[in-house]
Amino acid sequence: MAARVVLVTAGAQGIGRAISRALARDGWTVAALDLDAEALEDLAAELGRDLLALEGDAGSEEVIAGCIGHIFEQFGRLDAIVNNAGINANGPVEELDLDAVRRVLDVNVLSILAGAKHGAEFLRATGRGAIVNIASTRAMMSEPDTEAYSASKGAVLAVTHALAA
Ligand SMILES: NC(=O)c1ccc[n+]([C@@H]2O[C@H](COP(=O)([O-])OP(=O)(O)OC[C@H]3O[C@@H](n4cnc5c(N)ncnc54)[C@H](O)[C@@H]3O)[C@@H](O)[C@H]2O)c1
Repeated sequence: MAARVVLVTAGAQGIGRAISRALARDGWTVAALDLDAEALEDLAAELGRDLLALEGDAGSEEVIAGCIGHIFEQFGRLDAIVNNAGINANGPVEELDLDAVRRVLDVNVLSILAGAKHGAEFLRATGRGAIVNIASTRAMMSEPDTEAYSASKGAVLAVTHALAA
């Protein structure tokens, strides 16, 4: 049977890299989307043929749609998406830069909706497709100066139960 294929956003470093590595070890083909070309090269050197390195911005619907199209062209399947990309715009609320807040929402939340929108057909076709979203304890417990990040992670929880339904 052909290896299952997963898209991992922000898959080249940090938690995403550990996810990419663990899934490759378990026999998955990993398509890692990341902004950092050097980190992707480094991961490609580690995972070899198990990795499809995709450089781009998870906060862009066009990029997510392009990645999913490219994955389907290359492998003929998409079994899972791990929505791991997450950034913050921390700081005192009086100094919030609302463009930076929008960017947090694009990367942390829109990316999930874009993956679901453009990936649903392929995930359904597998009969057991999965979407895994990485939230944060900030969704439920507040810390000072984390309004944008907390709002986005609360939205990640909400969009997860909405998608599950
Ligand atoms: N680190 C923690 O303690 C922690 C705790 C709770 C939740 N999380 C969540 O886990 C996830 C991963 O966190 P982390 O600390 O490993 O991240 P990180 O800051 O270490 O970043 C990992 C990768 O994200 C990539 N990246 C950033 N913006 C991107 C974008 N727009 N498109 C594509 N790639 C992008 C970076 O290039 C980097 O390779 C996030 O959703 C984060 O909110 C992290």
